[in-house]
Amino acid sequence: MTRYFTEAASAETVNSRMGPDVDPRLAEVMTSLVKHLHAFTEDVRLTTAEWNLAIDFLTRTGQICSVERQEFILLSDVLGLSMLVDAIDHRRPTGATESTVFGPFHVDGAPVLPMGADICLDGKGESCQFEGRVLDLQGRPLEGACLDVWSDNADGFYDVQQPDLQPTWNNRGRFITGDDGRYRFRGIKPTSYPIPDDGPVGQMLSRLGRHPYRPAHMHFLVTAPGHRELVTHTFVGGDVYLESDAVFGVKESLIAPFERREDADAQWRSTYDFVLAPA
Ligand code: BEZ
Ligand code: FE
Repeated sequence: MTRYFTEAASAETVNSRMGPDVDPRLAEVMTSLVKHLHAFTEDVRLTTAEWNLAIDFLTRTGQICSVERQEFILLSDVLGLSMLVDAIDHRRPTGATESTVFGPFHVDGAPVLPMGADICLDGKGESCQFEGRVLDLQGRPLEGACLDVWSDNADGFYDVQQPDLQPTWNNRGRFITGDDGRYRFRGIKPTSYPIPDDGPVGQMLSRLGRHPYRPAHMHFLVTAPGHRELVTHTFVGGDVYLESDAVFGVKESLIAPFERREDADAQWRSTYDFVLAPA
């Protein structure tokens, strides 16, 4: 093999430059990345104009990023990469609740509220009681489990997207289970909403004939001593976007019942048990 660059041996030439003392995992990842990147470039016979377009796209993706906005994660989400990494890195034993994307709208330190509290602070939307249990793989209730929950409001926005319009901590809270493992809180029946689509990722979706919507869901981050952290959602059954979620987050097992209530103050009830795998 020549030491000079040739089209026929492009990836091998690049990879052969790697030094002898590189971290083994870094060497494995970079060797494969260069191999697949070069194979992709050959496969589509990438033109200089297209390459320039890609550089411009990535530049704009970086430029729009800020403390509040992470366009690269959004890009990973709409390409299905976030869900693939989650699937590989969070394989769980049979019976444990499945995970899904974390998303960009979680905020650390939401108020710890008494069981049954209402997290909807703006008075909008149809009220919904969320309830169920946190269990281990043997079906035993987990005491001291923390459910950190967040959802959009009835207009389809998280509080952090509308700091001047929504009360702080609107539709967010943390609940700690007692010895029965039960949780219960009031929120609203979530609504479907578009992911931020006013940047390069939104432009890409539109060029690909894809919509930016996510089906309605409630986010849960469930933790318990001695157990693996669970990042997941429950989805509202019947939502029109369930089969075309812009970020591929839907799993059949996460579609929860949302029943209309006739007899109580909340208009809806959604019951769902979370099963955590051991640490
Ligand atoms: C979310 O559900 O909050 C979300 C997930 C991925 C991208 C954008 C939003
Ligand atoms: Fe969400």
